[in-house]
Amino acid sequence: MSKVYIFDHPLIQHKLSILRDKNTSVKEFRELVSEIAQLMCYEATRDLPLEEIQVETPMGIATCRRIAGKKLAIVPILRAGLGMVDGMVAMMPNVKVGHIGLYRDPETLEPVKYYFKMPPDVTERDCIVVDPMLATGGSAVASCTFLKEAGVRSIKLMSIIGAPEGIAAMQEAHPDVDIYVAAKDEKLNDIGYIVPGLGDAGDRIFGTK
Ligand code: PRP
Ligand code: URA
Repeated sequence: MSKVYIFDHPLIQHKLSILRDKNTSVKEFRELVSEIAQLMCYEATRDLPLEEIQVETPMGIATCRRIAGKKLAIVPILRAGLGMVDGMVAMMPNVKVGHIGLYRDPETLEPVKYYFKMPPDVTERDCIVVDPMLATGGSAVASCTFLKEAGVRSIKLMSIIGAPEGIAAMQEAHPDVDIYVAAKDEKLNDIGYIVPGLGDAGDRIFGTK
């Protein structure tokens, strides 16, 4: 069974409270998604392996630790996942980015794939799939399946808000994929939106409603 990490860090919770507010502007919403992703990235990469190196300082030799050549890729689920990329790239400037284009069919709520483009060496990389909303879990489950079909062996999922239904669907379908969320909300409504959630993340990031 995968682990579910819920971040209770005060900075993340403070920013999330502004993000949820229906009166928050598109500009501020976009900035907050990026900032929260940046803070979550710090926690979600806590297990990266380190190696010791010697560094010559102006005063002598320091034994330091640096990341041991671990190859990562961030994989946003379009559209809304794009809002999380900049914050993470700010922490990991050389990270590669793959894209998965999915939308939910409004009738069936099933994910429909329209784009899949990964770095050529993705099978050698640990992938962090990012999408602000984990609702029914359909999009995240399908994305992880597509990555595994492409040969990816190590995946984490990072979402800002998760519904219990989506978390359970991910754990059922992908028990090897750990889940990182800033909040676990109450439930889904009858059209698959997270309650209380924050509304439609893609529309709020891109100002399409
Ligand atoms: C939203 C969201 C997730 C998905 C979550 O995307 O960004 O990708 O819904 O729902 P699920 O867990 O039930 O699959 P949407 O399909 O609205 O597309 P968009 O990002 O292009 O707006
Ligand atoms: N997608 C969103 O953007 N918001 C939800 O609440 C559910 C799915």
